Order: sequence, then structure tokens, then C-alpha cells
Amino acid sequence: MNTATSPPITREAALQMDREDPLAAFRDRFAPLKEGALYMDGNSLGRQPNETGPIVSQALAAWRDEMIIAWREWIRVPRRIGDAIAQSIVEARPGEVIVGDSTSVNLYKAAAAAVGAQPGRRTLLTSDDNFPTDMYTLQSLAAQHALYLKVLPTDPVNGLDLQVLRAALDSDVALLALSHVAYRSGALLDMTAVTQMAHDCGALMLWDVSHSAGSVRVPLESSGADMAVGCTYKYLNGGPGAPSFVYVRASEQQRLRQPLWGWFGHREQFAMSDTFEPAEGIDSFLVGIPAILSTIAIEPGVRCTADAGIDRLQAKGQQLTELIITLADEWLAPCGFSVASPRDAARRGSHITLKHPRAKEFVRALIAQDVTPDFRPPDMIRLGPAPLYTRFVDVWDAMQQLRSLASKIS
Ligand SMILES: Cc1ncc(COP(=O)(O)O)c(C=O)c1O
Repeated sequence: MNTATSPPITREAALQMDREDPLAAFRDRFAPLKEGALYMDGNSLGRQPNETGPIVSQALAAWRDEMIIAWREWIRVPRRIGDAIAQSIVEARPGEVIVGDSTSVNLYKAAAAAVGAQPGRRTLLTSDDNFPTDMYTLQSLAAQHALYLKVLPTDPVNGLDLQVLRAALDSDVALLALSHVAYRSGALLDMTAVTQMAHDCGALMLWDVSHSAGSVRVPLESSGADMAVGCTYKYLNGGPGAPSFVYVRASEQQRLRQPLWGWFGHREQFAMSDTFEPAEGIDSFLVGIPAILSTIAIEPGVRCTADAGIDRLQAKGQQLTELIITLADEWLAPCGFSVASPRDAARRGSHITLKHPRAKEFVRALIAQDVTPDFRPPDMIRLGPAPLYTRFVDVWDAMQQLRSLASKIS
């Protein structure tokens, strides 16, 4: 965006970008922030859509007035929202996505299903840049089944090198489990190329799309991915602790059997049989009763995301993050900050990490001024300007506040 010879980006230039932003109106579909507050943490917990309150109130009224009879409708909610996510967020087909449980639990179910479907293969493969819960899940599976967990060294800024990955893939790998967008750097992997590499050696591919669902294209169908899991409380704005979603490719649903057998995953749930028989299709990935109030709360954010369109959101996310990089180079590099995210916009998601030895102090000081980023130990400030509701001028103002703190703290 800005080069050494071009003039610095002014606040007026940021305002002009907002005037030209085709997604500007989506901001009004979210509950307003406190005057002067700036929210740069949409990749941890998205903001609240205006529609969420009324939709949850309706569910509360149904509970109050209809009581258990309301389950006639509620029973369909995990599939209905799963289908909406499939169609408009992750490029899958109806019947391939279902909502329920946390991302950690779905990761476990999916990874264990892969292990069960690959008898004779003893290796699980991942990257050392994966999110902690993903690591723990794989560690636990490896411990339970006496498998070998191979963890690939990964560049903390630019992500996994595909040559390193290629060299590690062999005929013992049962499952390759990776994050599509890295939680710290935001590095974006090529889903199609990586999935193809996994399949070439006979491994199954499981993606964690928590940081990509709602921010970048997630081509599950065309990439050939076998399974994926993702959060709904980040870019999908489903609310704190909103259940996650799991994708299983239709052609693999018969053989990928998850290990947590519960009555909601049963073929005839209300027959109350003593013996488990898995439901047809994606329903077999349910376990117990869905958390209806928080599942229903996911729908407004999914709708906003669908209306905005992933391509437009990804394009705006690239511009917002480019603005952060440009201002960081101009204003913050002289104070000891460095950019720890890919500089090529096509190779990152919608967040940027800045490094500074005193990052924690900066984050505390920003929060005291109503600017909310987040801190990742030991020295990272993560800025996630969600493209649905973040203005270019918000990014400019947040960076300006960081610049003014930098002149005092560093
Ligand atoms: C990449 C990734 N996976 C998983 C999770 C969390 O999973 P859970 O929904 O189980 O808390 C996060 C949370 O930030 C995440 O960033």
C-alpha cells in the first residue's frame, strides 16, 4: 500500500477508505461500542449482532411458553445452522457440517475418527505452531493409542514450509492436522496444496478453520479436505462459548466414526435402545443434547457474514491488515516493534501480530484507554480488525494510540 517514497497515510485517507468501503453498512448491524472505544480483537471474540438479543429472547419465550414441545423446532437447529455455515462460510454442501460441542471436543472426535479409519498407520502429524488445544488433543490421542506424534518445526512468521511438510509425509501418517490460519502470525496455508500432499501419501486431512471461517475463503469441497472444525465465536460472532462446527466430507461419513457415542448421535435417538447404532451422515458427530440458547445465537452472525460475502470480507481484511503493517513500519518500527505476520496479503488471514519486548505493558495501557487488542506471551500484540465491523479509521486511531504510548513506554 505505502512505499518508502509515498506520503504517509493520513487519518483523512483512512476516512476516505471507509467512504469507499462496500461493506461499511454492516457495522450498523452490530451493537454500538462505547464512545471512543476501539475493538481490535474480533478474532478472539466477535462483537454482538443486533439480531442476537431478539433471537435469543424468542428462544427463551419458546422455552417459557411451550416448554418441552419447543424441541420440535430445536432438534433441527444444529443441522440448520450447520447447513448455513456449509453453504456460505466454508464452501461445503448441506449435510456436511453440524454445530455442537466445543472446538476442542470436535477436534478430538474428528482426529480419533481418522485414527480409527487408518489401521496400521501409527503417526499423527502437525505443526509446532498449532493452537494449544489442537496440540493437547493430538497428544492425548497419541498417548491413548500408542501413536507417534510428529511435530513439524514451523516459521513463526510465515508459517509451515511445504518442503518441510513434504519431507515428513510418509506411508505411516494416519492424519495430518493443521490450522488453516495460524493463531499467532495469521499465516494462511494453501488448503488445496496441503490436502493434496496429505492424500498423496494416503493420510487423512483435518483442518482447524477457527481463524479462517468468516475471514478468508475456506475451500473445503474443492480442496478435497476430509474433515474440519472451527469456532463460531470469532469472525462468526456467535457469542462467548458458542458451540463449534465440524465438517466431514459426505463421501467419508460412512467410514469416519467418532468415538464419543451419545444418544444424539444415535440412528433412532428416541427409541432408547441399549445398543449404539450411529446415525446416518453428519448427525453421527453429535453426542449429547445441543446447547440450544447458544447455538441459536450463532445464526445472526452467520447471516451477516453470508450477506457480506467471504470474497469481499477477505479483500477488506487484506486492506485492513495492510494498513496496520504500513503504519507499524512507519510509526512503530523505530520504537522497537516488528511485524510478525506474513507481508504478502494473499498469505495471511485477517489479523496481524506485532512483537515488542514490552508487549504486555502496551496491551495493558491500550485496554486502559478502551482500545482492545490481545496479548500472546511472551512478547506479542495481536490485532484482529474484523472486516464486518471495523473501519479503516478505527485501525488508524488504534495505531495512533499505540504510537503515542510507544513514545512514552519504549
Ligand atoms: C485455532 C483454535 N482452535 C481452537 C480454539 C479453541 O477451541 P474451544 O472452542 O474448544 O475453546 C481456538 C481458540 O481461540 C483457536 O484459536
